[in-house]
Amino acid sequence: MRVLSGIQSSGKLHLGNYLGAIRQHIELQHDNECFFFIANYHALTTVQDARRQLMLTRDVALDYLALGLEPAKAALFRQSDVREVCELAWILSTVTGRGLLERAHSYKDKIAKGIMPTMGLMNYPILMAADILIYDSDIVPVGSDQVQHIEMTQDMAGYFNNTYNCTALKRPEARLNEAFIVPGLDGQKMSKSYGNTIDLFDTPKNTRKRIMSIKTDSTPVAGPKDPERCNVFAMFKLMAPPEEVEETAAAYRKGGLGYGTVKQRLAELYEEHFGPARARRAELEADPDRVEDILADGAKQARAAAAQVMARVREACGLANVGSRR
Ligand code: ADP
Ligand code: TRP
Repeated sequence: MRVLSGIQSSGKLHLGNYLGAIRQHIELQHDNECFFFIANYHALTTVQDARRQLMLTRDVALDYLALGLEPAKAALFRQSDVREVCELAWILSTVTGRGLLERAHSYKDKIAKGIMPTMGLMNYPILMAADILIYDSDIVPVGSDQVQHIEMTQDMAGYFNNTYNCTALKRPEARLNEAFIVPGLDGQKMSKSYGNTIDLFDTPKNTRKRIMSIKTDSTPVAGPKDPERCNVFAMFKLMAPPEEVEETAAAYRKGGLGYGTVKQRLAELYEEHFGPARARRAELEADPDRVEDILADGAKQARAAAAQVMARVREACGLANVGSRR
């Protein structure tokens, strides 16, 4: 199966990105042909500063590699290294009704958060469809907030194939992680735009500080507590081994376990989990040429796959060279 996914270079990656998306990307590399890319064209809808864009793009590459992406198994590349995606996005836009885009939840959510309603933001799902369709992707592993975008991609593949009476574009399927949302420090969905994240590669000191600041109610240490209504427990259960989760839940109900103790344990678990990756990341950061080579090699593989689809698309809609078809 060909698996493809992208992650925007629009901010530092956090625990929600890891558990919701990156972890499953990395697991999939063992049994599939994988393409993962840094969606820097998409990120231009929110990050409009060249230095910051370059830095965030590099950060996503380092994060993926540190977390276990193996370049020999999965192609990792920058979206902008395959410029044909913009060509395909244009072609898709000519067969896609405006109504489809006006129904996009993420467009409405982003405007509500104060992001400028540019044409880029409106056309975001078209570019995303092009990202997916240009590689003949079978499976697109994403978080539940992206499902509508995948459905729109399926629609757009259908519009193109129907318009030109062809089978140039392959219909992809979404693959959802266990449908959970990682909560942030305040119990809302963890998200860069809510300022409630625990970043994956912050310093140990800052990470501990963030964890200690998770919001809790004022039940005293001795009092029984409901684990299902506690922000600390919600995060703890995503990180701790299952037996420890059960023991801790029982201790919550019984009383005598303070939130501070669980936070301390959560900080330890975080460090056990991400400490080794932080060290690998530091090594890679010291070797920018190696990272650049990995991205260049990934782009080469991606361009080869894209060229095949674009040849079919151009042929189907009459953009192929004169004489290439009688
Ligand atoms: P953010 O909300 O911080 O801007 P993105 O929208 O860039 O994050 O998300 C990138 C990927 O990470 C998506 O596939 C998304 O589904 C996943 N993701 C982001 N936040 C969470 C979360 N809190 N819980 C689960 N998955 C998440
Ligand atoms: N929109 C996705 C997000 O915000 C990022 C993305 C861009 C993507 N193109 C993609 C994800 C193609 C999967 C496939 O998370």
